[in-house]
Order: sequence, then structure tokens, then C-alpha cells
Amino acid sequence: MDKQIVNHYNEHRIYSDEREAHKLRRKIGILTSGGDCPGLNAAIRGVAKAAYERFDVEFVGIADGYRGLIEGDYRTMSQSEFSGILTLGGTILGTSRRPYRNMQVIEDDNVDKVAQMKSNYKKMGLDCLVTLGGNGTHKTANLLSEEGLNVIGLPKTIDNDIFGTDVTFGFHTAVDIATDVVDRIHTTANSHGRIMVIELMGNKAGWLTLYAGIAGGADIVLLPEMPYSLDSVISSIEKRIENHHRFTIIVIAEGAYDKAMAKMKSKERVQFLKDKNFPSISYYLASEIESKTGLETRVVMPGHYVRGGNPSPYDRILSTQFGSYAARLIEKEKYGQTVAMVDGLITSNPLKVAASQTKFVPKDHQMVKCGKDIGISFGQE
Ligand code: F6P
Repeated sequence: MDKQIVNHYNEHRIYSDEREAHKLRRKIGILTSGGDCPGLNAAIRGVAKAAYERFDVEFVGIADGYRGLIEGDYRTMSQSEFSGILTLGGTILGTSRRPYRNMQVIEDDNVDKVAQMKSNYKKMGLDCLVTLGGNGTHKTANLLSEEGLNVIGLPKTIDNDIFGTDVTFGFHTAVDIATDVVDRIHTTANSHGRIMVIELMGNKAGWLTLYAGIAGGADIVLLPEMPYSLDSVISSIEKRIENHHRFTIIVIAEGAYDKAMAKMKSKERVQFLKDKNFPSISYYLASEIESKTGLETRVVMPGHYVRGGNPSPYDRILSTQFGSYAARLIEKEKYGQTVAMVDGLITSNPLKVAASQTKFVPKDHQMVKCGKDIGISFGQE
């Protein structure tokens, strides 16, 4: 994301404005929504510790993301609940998926979800709602902000695909875990002389696969943003064999697909794999490789494993920075914002910026160029 666009969106950098914190009072509702990841509790802790330090505050914990806000499932939290959670994976509040596309749809339960959320926000007597989540969470947060609620977002996802921020918390811990998987697969691949296809999370954006592929020394990296040619994948494998390599490691994002499937809509791609009895793209790719080359090929799917366990020190720091910055935004009543890191600095963007688009891997991204420079194939040639 180039600088002037980011600067245009950044309405302020409030750290430079070190106004003496006057004693004020805030009642803050907080929820975590969407896929969980390590760093959520560190971010919750960051918001809370900074708020308790800077002003009088009462926290209301909302259970299971937007479900709790819709159904009125919330409770006042004590300050002690925010201690001892820096290193704890997952989220102490619980989470759920409430797809944004359904938020304004009245379903069989006849519940107007937006009206319910607004009414519960009012019933709680909140000064502000803090939402920790990914793209869908930010879309709903922006909707609530446009409906007049005071909302602050924090960018969470292992996918690192939130527009306007260099990085989301959860991403680097997932890269660490996924890289360990790639590292370990090398020894068994080498022992058996096999092709190993490692499928990583990332339905729309391939950041996790790209970073773990480079960090883990993968030979082929396949991303949703760059539909691959099967012939190119096979020729990369054959080139490695000519160069006397006993194995090939392929990392592929769960949302990647080949050039033939690129012509399909995403629902059609899912049906295509289902019709062929492949649970996911990696099984389809493995079967194609094995049938065309006769080489033993195996699939590894770490799945939710990369979202489990404790946050890395990097993510503990990032979550604490994001959380404490959110508390400053609340203190200054700078609502309708989502915290971000831009060029290494903590700042914020309007919620509508994060809600407006997904941050995909550009084909000419420096990390893609780096991979190509060291001979990684992206299945494009
Ligand atoms: O949004 C993060 C994410 O981990 C994606 O990478 C993945 O496709 C999705 O969540 C899985 O969702 P769930 O945990 O609901 O199965």
C-alpha cells in the first residue's frame, strides 16, 4: 500500500499529542469475532491495561462475537480477568462467525440483527464498542459505526489480509507454526523421495502460504492470487529430479486453484472438487501429480493447528501495541477507526477503509520477487 494513500487515510497519529490524561470515565464493550488466533487475549489485555492506567473504566465482555451482541449475552468484567492472559491462545470471550452478508437479512428467526445490536449497545450503556476480528468483523463494525455507534476495530487474522495495515496479529504466530510444519516435512520427504503437498489456511489471500513457503524453504508456492498451471508445477518437479533432488515440497493455500478452475466462480470450484471426491485443492493437485509423473505424492493439512496455542513474542508485542493504541483512541473519542501498523508505526485508519477491500498478495510483491529470485516456482511459467 503506497505511502500517500495511507497518509491520506490516516487522520492522525496521536502518540505525538501527549496531552496529560485527565480523569475521565468510559464504559467499554469488547468482543472477538471470526476465526480465533493466538494474540487475541494479548490484545484484549492491551486495551484493558492501558485503559485502566489512563482513565476510569468499566469493561463489558460480550460472548462469542456478534452473537453475544445480537442476543444480549454479556457481563461486566473485573480488572483481574485481564491478568495472566498475555500468553494465552484463543480468546477468553469466545468467538463465532456471523457472516456480514447476513447481518442485514431477517431470517426465519425474524430477528433484526442490526436493531438488536444497537439496542443491546444502548442497554449496556456503552461509550464504545471494541471489536477484534478480520474482514467480516470489520464490515459489521463499520456498519454499526455508520449506524451511530462508537466503534474501534483491532485487525486480527492469521490471513494478514486486512486492508490498510502492514500486519495483523495472529499472522506471525501462524507463520512460525506453519514454517515448523514445512521444516519437519523435509526430513520425511527426503527419506522417502516423495512430493509433499502442504495445504495451509488462506481462502482468499495467500500471505501465510507465501511467508511460510519462503521461511520453510518450499520449492513450489501456490497462492489464490496466482492460479497455477499444472504443467508448470510438473516441470518444476522434473527439473528438481534432473538436478538430483530426491523430493519436492509444495505449499499451497486452501483457496488456490489451477488455471482451468480460474474460469469458474468460487462456488463452482468447490462443487468441482466435491464432484471429483477431493476434500480440497491439495488432494486434487496431489492426484494430478501422481497420475502424470508416477511419483509418490502425499498431502499434509495442518488446518486449525496453525491457529492453536500461545502467541509468539512478536504477536504479544503487536497485540499489546494495538490494544494500548485503541485505549488512546477511546480516551480521545476518535471512534470509527481501526488500529493499524503502517511502515512500522502504530496508527489507525477509518473503519470504512478496512471494510472496503481485502489485502491480496500483489503478483509483483517483493516477497514474490524474492521467492522467484531464489528459484521458487509459483506455478506460472
Ligand atoms: O479467517 C481465518 C481462517 O483461519 C481462514 O484462514 C480459514 O479459511 C477460516 O478461518 C477457517 O474458518 P473456521 O475456523 O470457521 O473453520
